[in-house]
This record gives sequence, structure tokens and C-alpha cells, in this order.
Amino acid sequence: MSSLCNKRILVGVTGGIAAYKSAELVRCLANLGADVRVIMTSSAMEFIRPLTLQALSGHPVHSALVDSDAEAGMGHIELARWADVFLIAPATAHCIADLVHGKAASLLGAVYLATPAQVVIAPAMNQGMWHHPANVANMAVLKQRDVKVIGPTSGLQACGDVGLGRMEAPLEIAERIAEHFSTGILQGKQLIITAGPTREAIDPVRYISNRSSGKMGYALASAALDAGAHVTLVSGPVSLSTPEHCVVKQVESAADMHRAVLHACETADIFIAAAAVADYRCADINQQKIKKNAASMSLEFTKNIDIVNTVSSLHENLYIVGFAAETENVTANAKRKLKDKKLNAIVANDVSRHDIGFDADENEVHWITTQDDVCLPKKSKIQLARDLIICIANDFNKSKTGAVCDGVHNATSTDQ
Ligand code: C5P
Repeated sequence: MSSLCNKRILVGVTGGIAAYKSAELVRCLANLGADVRVIMTSSAMEFIRPLTLQALSGHPVHSALVDSDAEAGMGHIELARWADVFLIAPATAHCIADLVHGKAASLLGAVYLATPAQVVIAPAMNQGMWHHPANVANMAVLKQRDVKVIGPTSGLQACGDVGLGRMEAPLEIAERIAEHFSTGILQGKQLIITAGPTREAIDPVRYISNRSSGKMGYALASAALDAGAHVTLVSGPVSLSTPEHCVVKQVESAADMHRAVLHACETADIFIAAAAVADYRCADINQQKIKKNAASMSLEFTKNIDIVNTVSSLHENLYIVGFAAETENVTANAKRKLKDKKLNAIVANDVSRHDIGFDADENEVHWITTQDDVCLPKKSKIQLARDLIICIANDFNKSKTGAVCDGVHNATSTDQ
């Protein structure tokens, strides 16, 4: 069964008898690892109490469009931006008609208009309503707008009719949502990803390191797994939980990371060097703890081997992506590194900004190859990682076969 770890699912509940099944749906989504938030319409609250869905999702339910408290926290635009998928289940005939007409009088309607996320609906209504030409026409409009539809199924209905119109079973809906993320664009490919900082020992208790949290590298590992790749994650010391189904090699120093990467590269198709490797290490590691007797002290450093450089010289057929964390002349410096390190692509980000980059949950980067310079605008590292995996899969396939898969959403091309 696919996982929904790291996935943000916004569930919209509208007012039909099937609303009682949305409690089970929220539980199924959460069981698959999703972070779930719920919006209810006022008529949905006639069928099921918000407290039930709050308890199952672990978050307060959103219902009012104009709510000063909500707008100060997660208002309709934040909710719309937050979601990876906006799942409306059950979607009544009335809700479907409102979506067709872009009615924004309810929170649910406003979020539908504002969200860049994939919208999925699970219709539920009487079989006569489902087959009515007005509803058939409305469904056709939504499908044309790339709204995905799950169900309905056929059977005995709450009203006593038998026919199409029952909401699909909650577990089936949750599994179909999980499949949505399994893109398969790197199916069977072997990936090595480095992540996090390295630690260079000074003595048995002290080290030098940097501010890398590993979030970007770990998000890339998750996104690559969703894309069907086999992933070896070579990770410096971080406090993140490792993605499921991923081979993890924990390392400390740049030398450890170098050894682990060289070993894994023998069978790899793609190497993503997202780690912030220390450029220098202590020339001599003190065997005992250094005492603070002296008024000042100095340490001598030796340059570390450049892992990505070594790998690109040794493995000409390996597709290699580097990262460039820069504080000035961001894209110019990154383009120089792309050439010097003989990389296929480089991801450049501005670490002088406090809102993105090191240790932040969001990032904004440039995807740079010899042909492209594309700005991927600010978003969560998890969403950005999915976009980067699409860029990587596209460029990797182009380099091997000339084939191209789907594009990245919200990217803007910049002049070179
Ligand atoms: O030269 P700079 O350190 O800015 O290059 C960053 C890129 O090089 C990143 O992809 C990083 O993982 C990689 N790197 C490396 N070994 C080093 C230093 C950086 O693989 N010693």
C-alpha cells in the first residue's frame, strides 16, 4: 500500500448523508501518514459534528469564510496554499454545481478557487440526481478542468433507491489519493542522495559543522521514492526521521561521506549532492579533550576532498545534480560550479535570506542546467522537492532517450 507520509490533504466535507463516512476517511488518510485538515460546510455540520473530525485529524475544523481568528492563523488563502490535494468528500450535487460556477460564498468554494493543489471529488447523491443532465453536464465541466473524480459506486442508497450515487468507500478513496503521488517517473532508477551537514572533529568532544538541517535532502529522498526510485540516503548528523523504504547510511565527517558515496555510486543512475559538506577539517584531531588553559588558540585546517567533483570525474555516465548555497551572485556562482564540477544540473539557493534556505521549512531555488535557468518560487521544501524530482527526471530522461515527462507547476523561466 502506498504511503501518504509528508502529504498535506485538505478534506472538504459537504452536506449529504455520506458525510458520516468522512470521519472514517479522515482516519484512513491519517493512518497512511497524511497531515489532514478539514473544511466543513454549514450543511455538513447538520450531519456530523466538527468535534469528531477535529479529534480524528488532530486539528480544529475550518468552516467560516469570514473569521478574524482563522484569518490571523490559517485563513482561506493559507489553507488553499497549504494543501497538496484538496479532496471534497462527499461532494453533493449542490457542491458540484457551485464549483462549476466558481461560487465563493462558502470557505469551501473560496478555497476551491484559490488552491493550486490537485482537486479531487468523491460525489455522493441519489441515483436520479447523479444521472440528471444538469449534473452530468456539471461533472463534464469539472473533469475538463482537471478535477479528478473518485466514484460514485452503485448499490442500495440511504433513500432506498438502488443505483449509482454512493460515495466510494473511505479506504479506497485514501488509497487512490496515495496513488496520485506515486508518479513512477523514476521507476526502478537507483538514486544516491547526500543530505545534512558533516561534522569535522576537533577533539573527542568538539567539532566544527554548519547550519544545514538536512530537510531538503530528506524531502528529495521522499519525493524520489514516490517517483518509484530506489534511494540510498547518505546522511550527516540530523534530527529527522528517515523516509520509509530508503537505504540510509549515517556518516559524520566528509571523509566518511566520501567513502559511503563512492561505494554506492557503483550501481547508481543519479547522484544528488544536497549535503552541506565541510570544506575543511582539522589537520590534527586531538586525541584528548583540549584544555582551556591558553588565553587564545588556533587550529590548522586541511581542505576536504570535493565529493561531487571526484564522483563526476570517476563516473562519466552518472547523472549528477549539485547544490549551491550562496550569499551573493547566486546564479552566477552556481553556473560556475555547474561547469567546474562537471555536473548535469545545479540547484542554487540564496542562504543570506532568513525566510528560506538553512534550517527553514521553505525554500526558493533556481534549477540550472547548461540549457535552462528556471526559478522555482518559494514553497515548502517538501513541495519543492517534488518539483525538483520532476526537473531531474525530465532532464535525466532527455539525456538518455530524448523523452520528456510532465512539467513543473508554477515555475518561471529566467534569462540566462
Ligand atoms: O563548492 P561548494 O561547496 O559550494 O559546492 C556545493 C556542492 O558541492 C554541493 O552539491 C555539495 O554537496 C558538494 N560538495 C561536495 N564535497 C565537498 C564540498 C561540496 O560534494 N567537499
